Amino acid sequence: MKTVRIGILGGGTVGSNVLTLLHQRRDLIEALGVNLQIAPVLVKNAKKPRPTTHPTATFTSDPQSVGAVDVLLELIGGTTQALELMLPHLQAGKPVITANKALLAERWDILKPYAQRGQIFFEAAVMAGTPVITSLTCTLRSSELFELHAILNGTCNYILSRMEEGAEYAEALEEAQAKGYAEDPPDLDVNGIDPGHKLCMLARLAVDADFKWASLEMRGIAGLTGATVREAVAHGKRVKLVGSLVPEGAVWKAKVRPVILDAAHPLAGSTASRNAIVLHGDASGTIVLQGGGAGGMVTASAIVGDLIAHLEGNLGHTPRATPTPARTDYTPEVFEEV
Ligand code: NAP
Ligand code: HSE
Repeated sequence: MKTVRIGILGGGTVGSNVLTLLHQRRDLIEALGVNLQIAPVLVKNAKKPRPTTHPTATFTSDPQSVGAVDVLLELIGGTTQALELMLPHLQAGKPVITANKALLAERWDILKPYAQRGQIFFEAAVMAGTPVITSLTCTLRSSELFELHAILNGTCNYILSRMEEGAEYAEALEEAQAKGYAEDPPDLDVNGIDPGHKLCMLARLAVDADFKWASLEMRGIAGLTGATVREAVAHGKRVKLVGSLVPEGAVWKAKVRPVILDAAHPLAGSTASRNAIVLHGDASGTIVLQGGGAGGMVTASAIVGDLIAHLEGNLGHTPRATPTPARTDYTPEVFEEV
């Protein structure tokens, strides 16, 4: 058996469920010939009770106590300390697994070379447990994208679904926070920034490794009333927060905004915290993926999946090597904006 020591930064919604799932999947990991050793888990408050069933995990608020590890799981979020803690591991040539789309989107200038070397695994960062990142960095590499449209934020989708049922915005947001779906602060969700982070990463994998975060247009659902959402339903439609990557002239345009979809649209059936994506490509044709988009265990499933992929000898997720030109002879789908 080979001993692999893993460091886990963060023991919140995602980190606690990662610990639970690592314990549940211990036989599978041992079958790979790996004796997994978990370093003390880094948290802010080491005395806080943790909702994990892992029997032996310990917690620390001292980054030094994590010590040297073979693989680092970054699950604290944010764009400053997460980067500071992750960089020495990347610089030492070691792999990092992260769910942190904000960091990937906004500090790509620093992270891109490590991603190009296959040192960063980030399936959980976009659509949580729904495997869109591995699809784009593997199967869909043979196809040129025409356009994509996606529901990329579980919190907003949950709020919109609850508003359809009669809840008001503030009440639905509180519920989403209690379920562990929302960012800290939730403004990132409801103002469209979090789905913007995810759309930016999709663009870097699908069309251009140098896609600029500053070029995104983002508008969220804050300010939408229950009446607007329910009026759409009364007309056989649904309000959804959709991120789109489309050709506009000869350039790729990425935008997030609330739109009205026909109930039969492939994105319209995703309710609660679920996410969905529709991709149109030349060789691939049309692909629709739908699944869990937020929440502790669905996100942990992608993190532990990435860890197992690494233990099996696979490299991390790499950006596109050459840009895909935005086609001038293609007319993308247009939605009515709210
Ligand atoms: P969370 O519940 O707030 O957990 C964050 C954890 O990090 C907590 O354990 C916190 O410690 C610890 N932490 C935060 N700042 C720290 C610092 N400066 N030093 C040491 N520990 C620190 O957040 P989460 O929902 O698990 O999200 C974690 C990451 O996953 C984020 O990047 C998020 O965007 C991403 N993500 C979340 C979901 C989801 O559905 N929740 C889905 C996909 C991706 P304390 O517990 O002591 O406060
Ligand atoms: N806050 C995010 C969401 C978590 O609601 O989609 C998953 O990335």
